[in-house]
Order: sequence, then structure tokens, then C-alpha cells
Amino acid sequence: MAIYSLENKIILHIFAMENKFIMKNVLAFAGSNSKTSINKQLVTYASSLLNKAKVELIDLNDFDVPLFGVDLEAEMGHPENAKLLLEKIKDADGVLLSLAEHNGAYTAVFKNMLDWMSRIESKNFYGKPMLLMATSPGGRGGKSVLAMAKDRFPRHNANIVADFSLPSFGSNFSEGKIVNEELNKELNSKVELFQNTI
Ligand SMILES: Cc1cc2nc3c(=O)[nH]c(=O)nc-3n(C[C@H](O)[C@H](O)[C@H](O)COP(=O)(O)O)c2cc1C
Repeated sequence: MAIYSLENKIILHIFAMENKFIMKNVLAFAGSNSKTSINKQLVTYASSLLNKAKVELIDLNDFDVPLFGVDLEAEMGHPENAKLLLEKIKDADGVLLSLAEHNGAYTAVFKNMLDWMSRIESKNFYGKPMLLMATSPGGRGGKSVLAMAKDRFPRHNANIVADFSLPSFGSNFSEGKIVNEELNKELNSKVELFQNTI
């Protein structure tokens, strides 16, 4: 009995060690279709701060879907690219997302994809830990779209573990990284929190 319990302890310990070193899969993308997206630059930088993670950085331009409409949906069903993105979220251990802000809200391309995905699966974030970010050239750093997403995403079963806003992108970001020390420290600690959650 004593030997059995010792074996059990060893097995549990090995399992815990293996789990600690298992590579996690992270899906990263920006809520933008701009070829020079500053949010894509931010999410790329945030991805580079992760360790023990395999990051798949995708671009919404590669997930083209038609403009959502209930009539079109009745006619053609759901687009393959919306199903594909849902699968990628489902398969990931965590999601890094940086939202571009247009007129205080999601960009059309992101909202359109969200609408399609929510028709296939209303809990379309599958409870995956998420680091939610936004940046803009202005001083508010996409705070309106962040607030909107923080209110809405949990209804789609998002598990937002931290959020980060980078204001004044042009002066706070250069050559692929955040150059403002304080903001850089903030992002680093939020990435660490995300890393410890996935
Ligand atoms: C139609 C439109 C509306 C915009 N509205 C806002 C806004 O409400 N707040 C803001 O901070 N920036 C706004 N901007 C500026 C964007 O933040 C800027 O274009 C930024 O680069 C978008 O992010 P992206 O490069 O990742 O696409 C707007 C830009 C466009 C084209």
C-alpha cells in the first residue's frame, strides 16, 4: 500500500512537471484589415514576450467573409473562413487580440467576423484566456473599443485575464517595440499574467 502510494506520488509529480513544460498554443491577431495595422504590430510585439508558447499569428485579410446578412445566411449558410477561425480559437490555449478602433467601435471587418462566428457558436471565445489590447495614434489608445469589448466579449464566453491600451502609437512604439518604459513594463506584466493563466 505504501509503495502504491509512493508510485502514485511519483506519477503525479512527473505529470505536473510535464504539464509545466508543455508548449502552449496561442492564437494572435488584430481586429483590423489594414496592411500596415498598428494593432498587428502591437500584437506581434506582445507575442514576442511569451515564452513556452507556440504562437500562430493570423491576419483577418486571410479570412475573407461576405458582409453578414440574415438573408445571405439563409441562402448560403455559414462561410468556411468563419468556421475556420472558430476552430482556431477552440484549438488554442489562449488568445492575444488587439482591436483597432473606428468611430469608437470595432472595425467593420472585425464586427462582421464576430457576427458570422456568433451565428455558428454564440459562445465563440470558448472560455479561452484572452489578453485584450488596443492601440491608436491618438491619446485614448482605443479605450472606447476596449470598453465595448470588455462589456460584450464575456457574453461570448471570453475569459479576459487582462487588458492593455497603448495610446499615441507613433510616439510610444518604435522598431517593433514599446519605447515608453512605463507602458512597456505594464504590457510585460500583463503578458506574464496571461502566460501564467494558459
Ligand atoms: C473610419 C475611421 C475611424 C476612426 N475612428 C477612430 C476612433 O474613433 N478613435 C481612434 O482612436 N482612432 C480612430 N481612427 C484612427 C485609427 O485608430 C487608426 O487608423 C489606426 O491605425 C487603426 O488601427 P490599425 O492600423 O490597426 O487598423 C479611425 C480611423 C478610421 C479610418
